[in-house]
Amino acid sequence: MSLIDDAKAVRENAYAPYSRFKVGAAIRAGSGRIYPGVNVENVAYPEGTCAEAGAIAAMVAAGDTEIAEVAVIADCPEPVTPCGGCRQKLKEFAGPDVKVTMATLDGAELVMTVAELLPGAFDESHMVRA
Ligand code: THU
Repeated sequence: MSLIDDAKAVRENAYAPYSRFKVGAAIRAGSGRIYPGVNVENVAYPEGTCAEAGAIAAMVAAGDTEIAEVAVIADCPEPVTPCGGCRQKLKEFAGPDVKVTMATLDGAELVMTVAELLPGAFDESHMVRA
């Protein structure tokens, strides 16, 4: 079973009554463990959270802090890409060469690295003062 299969399975549990856009994510950590996540919306719209954020939270809660691979899936015409905020969240725990597979329910896939998804990322080096 591929990581996309994990993301596809958990997507069924997404809570998206407002957008009706269910997203599933799965992270394989350096330990080999798989962490699923779904988007969880809220009637106060900005309080909703993305699938990727859910998977990251599950990973950290379980004691893993290294992302080895990411998969995201939704029912859309083109492979779903992580929002800007989630790109930064993924970068916190993933090296630049970590692969992110984005997919549609119809089977289309797009693979990009974390560095390709977030060029010019803000990181610790920006906080070092002369
Ligand atoms: N969403 C995700 O969970 N991940 C993405 O990569 C793109 C967008 C969610 C947020 C919101 O619940 C819904 O999709 C519509 O934006």
